[in-house]
Amino acid sequence: MTTVDSKIDNLPWVEKYRPTTLDDVYGQTDIVETVRKFVHEGKLPHLLFYGPPGTGKTSTIIALAREIYGPNYKNMVLELNASDDRGIDVVRNQIKQFASTMQIFSKGFKLIILDEADAMTSVAQNSLRRIIEKYTKNTRFCILANYAHKLNPALLSRCTRFRFHPISEAAIKERINQVIIKENLHIEKKAENALLELSKGDMRRALNVLQACKAALSTDDEEIDQDMIYECIGAPHPQDIELSLDTILKEDWVKSYKTIEHVKREKGLALVDLMSGFVEVLSKYELSNAARVAILGGLADIEYGISRGGNDKIQTSAIIGVIKSAMEKQK
Ligand SMILES: Nc1ncnc2c1ncn2[C@@H]1O[C@H](COP(=O)(O)OP(=O)(O)OP(=O)(O)O)[C@@H](O)[C@H]1O
Ligand SMILES: [Mg+2]
Repeated sequence: MTTVDSKIDNLPWVEKYRPTTLDDVYGQTDIVETVRKFVHEGKLPHLLFYGPPGTGKTSTIIALAREIYGPNYKNMVLELNASDDRGIDVVRNQIKQFASTMQIFSKGFKLIILDEADAMTSVAQNSLRRIIEKYTKNTRFCILANYAHKLNPALLSRCTRFRFHPISEAAIKERINQVIIKENLHIEKKAENALLELSKGDMRRALNVLQACKAALSTDDEEIDQDMIYECIGAPHPQDIELSLDTILKEDWVKSYKTIEHVKREKGLALVDLMSGFVEVLSKYELSNAARVAILGGLADIEYGISRGGNDKIQTSAIIGVIKSAMEKQK
């Protein structure tokens, strides 16, 4: 008993708290209800789940497989991670072999899960179309991807599509609260709010950050505070953003530059993160249209410049310039 328990305890929380039934999948109610209905009516089509990371695509299909086949679902399911081994051979051989062997006592169809299918080569996707048609009698395919537009249109038209949207803060909160209770954590209200906001709809990120915070505690009774959350996520603290933005708005150019450089160095922040912080704060300000357009346009160019490897010093100066000159338009 103890060995099993300790094995579970050593798992990363994203695995420890992976939904085992469809009821444990949070914030995707419509999708869960629809696929469940398909199963109960015995009319499961080929499925395509797509959407951003950490929203429950893999978890939902595994939970669905469990619901259809019970605990021994693995015999009836072929899971292929397309981005590990994305050649055409995988598609041809593994799928063909699995799909063409009929089990004597099989319940209807087998399930083939193609995870991260948008990483497959287009040749492999092409050969998949024919295979899907050929084996529809005794198999169902479930294709999982982050981006539907990276999939072959002919493949898309063979599947019923479900878009997994970023999980709402309320749904993440519900799940996270269960984990907080089970793991006996103490967390400040403000810290919890920051965690929900910074997770941006990604449940995997929320769980990983929470686990990282737990590991950083010196005693089990210590409370997780807002600073720890920002540090674990590596996001700039709101105070640092406000300080930097304030200096741009109020001080002269040299002073602003020095303050921002100081904040960046002291807190180990990347310029892009500071910049997205500025955009978020500025979106709450009352600005004239002209000023807003000038800021967003200017910052977008700078972001592109940074991603192309632009000089940090020049880009920092450019940010100050863009915001200061846009504020002139505000007057
Ligand atoms: N809707 C959800 N309800 C409950 N837990 C979830 C949900 N979505 C994600 N999780 C948690 O996050 C982890 C990762 O989720 P999952 O593997 O299903 O994401 P995914 O959508 O397949 O992401 P990717 O696109 O990166 O493959 C799960 O183990 C689970 O703990
Ligand atoms: Mg996945």
